[in-house]
Amino acid sequence: MFKELSPSLRTILTPGPVEADPRVLRAMSTPILGQFDPEFTHIMNQTMQMLRKLFQTENEWCYPIDGTSRAGIEAVLCSLIEPGDLVLVPIYGRFGHLLVEIAERYGAQVATMETDWGEVFAPEQVIAEIKRIRPKIVAMVHGETSTGRIQPLQEIGEACRMQDVLFVVDAVATIGGTQVKVDEWKIDACIGGTQKCLSIPSGMAPITFNERVETVLRQRKKIERGLAEPQAASLGQERMIRSNYFDLSQLMDYWSPTRLNHHTEATTMLYAL
Ligand SMILES: Cc1ncc(COP(=O)(O)O)c(C=O)c1O
Repeated sequence: MFKELSPSLRTILTPGPVEADPRVLRAMSTPILGQFDPEFTHIMNQTMQMLRKLFQTENEWCYPIDGTSRAGIEAVLCSLIEPGDLVLVPIYGRFGHLLVEIAERYGAQVATMETDWGEVFAPEQVIAEIKRIRPKIVAMVHGETSTGRIQPLQEIGEACRMQDVLFVVDAVATIGGTQVKVDEWKIDACIGGTQKCLSIPSGMAPITFNERVETVLRQRKKIERGLAEPQAASLGQERMIRSNYFDLSQLMDYWSPTRLNHHTEATTMLYAL
């Protein structure tokens, strides 16, 4: 009734998806392994090493979230944001608005600042706002797909670190295509995408985060289990990470030697990555 699938060969000149590299397509036609097969866990470990190079970081935590790039953004924001947290989003195109929407859905009080589309912020503008409103998190896009502009991040990252603010960066459009220096720019959590500069199909979001983020995750997990101070235990329900799928602390257990089961890994996408 239905013919064998045979999509036409296209030259795709959009910001994503792009054509997959032939090496990627070859990797994707190799056999499925079980997710706890030692051969597969070895591939997981190697992927983490590769991602450290990609993100130019020494972070232990570098692993992909299964889902499109916004799954990576959701995982980071939902694991960090507790209801009422103040999040600053400087917007200079369409994807700034996505950060706002996701942060609001997880209960953040979002403060925005905007500049004309086609422009980027002078770092001092953002730094002044950070000092004025003292947010818990600054979430920002590195490369705005909607305008083709790149926001310089280093000075903002340094200011965030000085003010003890968490700096979250959407590098979906830039990762693998231009420098994304996670450690040097003092980015605490960074999200990439597969379907743009990496020439992989859409469906996985590589992320990295440092020990400052890990501390927040571990604290929330302790509170969830009622292991922190007694008064904190009563806040447990309220403060728990709202998503099972996107809970970075559970994913840490899955991607570390503990290998606690979480989701069923998208093995073929991992080969591609
Ligand atoms: C900068 C940026 N952030 C986030 C996204 C969302 O990615 P996805 O559509 O893979 O969920 C995109 C997609 O084009 C993007 O360009």
